[in-house]
Amino acid sequence: MIDRTYQDRVIAPSLLAADFSRVQEEVSRAISAGADWLHLDVMDGHFVDNISFGPAMVNAIHETNDIFLDVHLMISRPDHYLPRFVEAGADLITVHVEADHDVAETLGRIKEAGCQVGLALNPATPFSEVVPFLDKIDLLLCMTVVPGFGGQAFMQEVMPKIEEAKAYREQHGLSYHIEVDGGLKKETAPQAYAAGANVIVAGSSTFNAEDMGAAVQEIREA
Ligand code: DX5
Ligand code: ZN
Repeated sequence: MIDRTYQDRVIAPSLLAADFSRVQEEVSRAISAGADWLHLDVMDGHFVDNISFGPAMVNAIHETNDIFLDVHLMISRPDHYLPRFVEAGADLITVHVEADHDVAETLGRIKEAGCQVGLALNPATPFSEVVPFLDKIDLLLCMTVVPGFGGQAFMQEVMPKIEEAKAYREQHGLSYHIEVDGGLKKETAPQAYAAGANVIVAGSSTFNAEDMGAAVQEIREA
């Protein structure tokens, strides 16, 4: 598995938009379509108003596929559940700065476990909230929708925050990826790239496309 840097464009289809009655076929479809990473949205019905799946799903995919697993924990107590996702085979684990935990400690534990370290912030959360942690992460996830559901409209008002994250990275000699998640498709990806994002999560625009391979390529080249 090639290690991507923030200078690479990474396309991460979100399994949330897949047909859950045929998960393995859907994962294979994403891999054949050229997905770099698979984005796995874990929701606890508490941190967000939806329940998706947990470590058993992550593990089932890990055991039967080779793709890099980008696990996005939209859960209130990521510190409590973290070991289960490590054990399940996550490659990168992203936790929210708004969740109820000692953020620095959780990030340290993700790294110690040998996973890449991600930190997410919601559209309403200012960049200043994540600044204390930026030297401890491999990826900053700037949500471009209020998390909880796929298929929502991209919030372009988040773009200035991405520009801030990019500028901060340059000023401080850091190398975290900037990931965007929510409402990404070939029409909105250019704004995210222009602001400084390099990892594009795309659920409905890839899994629901008639030709998933073409959709992934169009987003990559947008
Ligand atoms: C939103 C999730 C997203 C979602 C994106 O809460 O974090 O990853 O699957 O879905 P689309 O691409 O359909 O907006
Ligand atoms: Zn997500």
